[in-house]
Amino acid sequence: MRILVTGGAGFLGSALANTLAQQGHEVLVVDDLSAGDLTRLHKQVLFHRGSVLDRPKLWTLLHGVECVYHLAARVLVAESILYPYDYNKVNVGGTVMLLEAMRDLGIPRLVIASSGAIYGEQNEQPISEAAPPNPRSPYAVSKLAAEYYAQTIGAIWGIATTTLRIFNVYGPGQSLPPSHPPVVPRFLQQASGDGSVVIFGDGTQTRDFVYLDDVVTALITAGTTDGIGGQTFNIGSGRDTSINQLSKIILAITKSESNIIYNAAGSVGVSRLQANITAAQKYLGYTPQVSLESGLRQTLHADARF
Ligand SMILES: NC(=O)c1ccc[n+]([C@@H]2O[C@H](COP(=O)([O-])OP(=O)(O)OC[C@H]3O[C@@H](n4cnc5c(N)ncnc54)[C@H](O)[C@@H]3O)[C@@H](O)[C@H]2O)c1
Repeated sequence: MRILVTGGAGFLGSALANTLAQQGHEVLVVDDLSAGDLTRLHKQVLFHRGSVLDRPKLWTLLHGVECVYHLAARVLVAESILYPYDYNKVNVGGTVMLLEAMRDLGIPRLVIASSGAIYGEQNEQPISEAAPPNPRSPYAVSKLAAEYYAQTIGAIWGIATTTLRIFNVYGPGQSLPPSHPPVVPRFLQQASGDGSVVIFGDGTQTRDFVYLDDVVTALITAGTTDGIGGQTFNIGSGRDTSINQLSKIILAITKSESNIIYNAAGSVGVSRLQANITAAQKYLGYTPQVSLESGLRQTLHADARF
């Protein structure tokens, strides 16, 4: 297949693009490199620097494409609170621009990477796709709006659109932006260094951590399974892990002597996030293969920064 991956120089997009290329597909990537890194991509992947807001570029790139994976987005929750206009422009506007281009060129299939963040605080855990969205940040609002646009216009224009609501992905090569580093690479870095591992809040908040390779498998299955257009699936591990538990596992596997300190003023986010993955199991045959401890060990082993 000829496939386009938007945001394909990012953490998740590059792993997807490289795997698809290894499987023998012709893979094109469009990424503006605002957060991406070209060196992540294998040489078989055809890289094009550009924005999903660049109409002529999208029209050119989409010729002959059979499936689009849409991952290009601004992804930092705290930053989105400072710059909601920009998040709306890229995450929502970019999705709508892509859909228009797909319509004009008759591209039949789209998989979009949405986020477990759209659920926000939920009483009922694990969270199923039927839970009422409760976004708590401009980032989450933008991901939800992008989903709605893709599903609504996709249905009208005959583009089979599958939405994956992805929970907390971790793995080798995850970005570590200094201002808002994700918790897994931050803990790995802190535990591998001389300082302390810093937990925000009291550490009882939980997240559903899912290994990169399991998410790539889910994305590829969503792009190659017929009859799932219009559907939305949670992609997580199906387990919740507290930040306290995560810190203990990371200290153990890094054999670190760092101490743990608590920053009560740090941003904690929602209290619990655990994905109900039964729909993905049923329709995508999705079964996460990598346990948290094993995934963290693989990350530690494969990522030279730790
Ligand atoms: N990593 C996670 O835990 C996670 C969880 C849920 C959802 N997601 C979603 O998965 C996707 C990928 O996330 P990631 O963690 O790999 O983030 P990332 O920042 O590494 O990847 C996003 C990529 O999009 C590119 N990009 C940004 N604006 C663009 C534009 N206007 N045009 C073209 N490219 C642009 C960036 O340069 C970057 O390479 C995002 O849509 C994100 O919302 C990620």
